[in-house]
Amino acid sequence: MCVFFYTFAANMEHVYHIPEQKEKEIFVYYTTLVKKMKVLVATEKPFAKVAVDGIRQVVEQAGYELVLLEKYTSKQQLLEAVADVDALIIRSDNVDAEVLDAAKNLKIVVRAGAGYDNIDLAAATAHNVVAMNTPGQNSNAVAELALGLMVMAVRNLYNGTSGTELMGKKLGIHAYGNVGRNVARIAKGFGMSIYAYDAYCPAEVMVNEGVTPVASAEELYSTCDIVSLHIPATPETKGSINNALLSRMPQGAVLVNTARKEVINEDELIQFMQMRKDFKYMTDIMPAADQKMQELFEGRYFATPKKMGAQTAEANINAGIAAAKQIVDYLENGNTKFQVNK
Ligand code: 3PG
Repeated sequence: MCVFFYTFAANMEHVYHIPEQKEKEIFVYYTTLVKKMKVLVATEKPFAKVAVDGIRQVVEQAGYELVLLEKYTSKQQLLEAVADVDALIIRSDNVDAEVLDAAKNLKIVVRAGAGYDNIDLAAATAHNVVAMNTPGQNSNAVAELALGLMVMAVRNLYNGTSGTELMGKKLGIHAYGNVGRNVARIAKGFGMSIYAYDAYCPAEVMVNEGVTPVASAEELYSTCDIVSLHIPATPETKGSINNALLSRMPQGAVLVNTARKEVINEDELIQFMQMRKDFKYMTDIMPAADQKMQELFEGRYFATPKKMGAQTAEANINAGIAAAKQIVDYLENGNTKFQVNK
């Protein structure tokens, strides 16, 4: 094809006397047009193979090339891998100004997942890079893990002692987005009474789904035996789960965190748990003080070794393929529906 355009441009010179410099520009222009777009999947925590196969199919069907960088161990590897790619699919991988500087051809980065706090949105905008997420695609997986952690907590971390049941307990869902709604749906099957607080979600949405809305985070924590966190990490929420809020929870309370570790005021959580020997903390995002917490709170603290909420084949397929399709739809049709740096 390039040869065709070059020949075309060269022949045009005889007809229209195109100068040599212009001829080169035409050649470069058409070469760019026919060059395969490169899509990089950069995942420190890889997708299931079946999801990568699905992503490859979408990318190759569009006539693009798929490049994989899995389980990378240094930022340098990421900087090198992004150098010539047009599109990037990531998970919790950090895309900061340095990565964007190194990605000279990058047009779009898609976070295959919900939270996009790992992308420097201002830097993406400054680099003319569209940033997107894939909302809802991994919500069921995260919600199932949240319920799994609740069962684990009330059964005393499966240590052989007599525990309690979820049935009849009051569950507080902190933020009623895609994951929160799935938690509510599953928790109903356990026979829990469900409450939710979300400043941005209309109360009718909750009521229609059999959930009792409460007016504040304080009310949610005062009311519920178990609170499941689903707030994003933003400047407003960082460190917001603190002693003042946790102190409101009743005896035997449990906090389940499948959201972000940044939303927890870790020092205050530790102080609180030292005071309240009845309180349990179950998290899918290992705290900085994991070792200390394991020692101090044996039997009432659990952290997964690596964030596992979205680590299912189904969630990987849903989020990974959605990301690939959004890239193709953006590059082919300019669709920016899921753009988060508008
Ligand atoms: C998300 O924001 O989608 C979840 O936290 C999952 O993150 P992960 O893709 O890194 O597992």
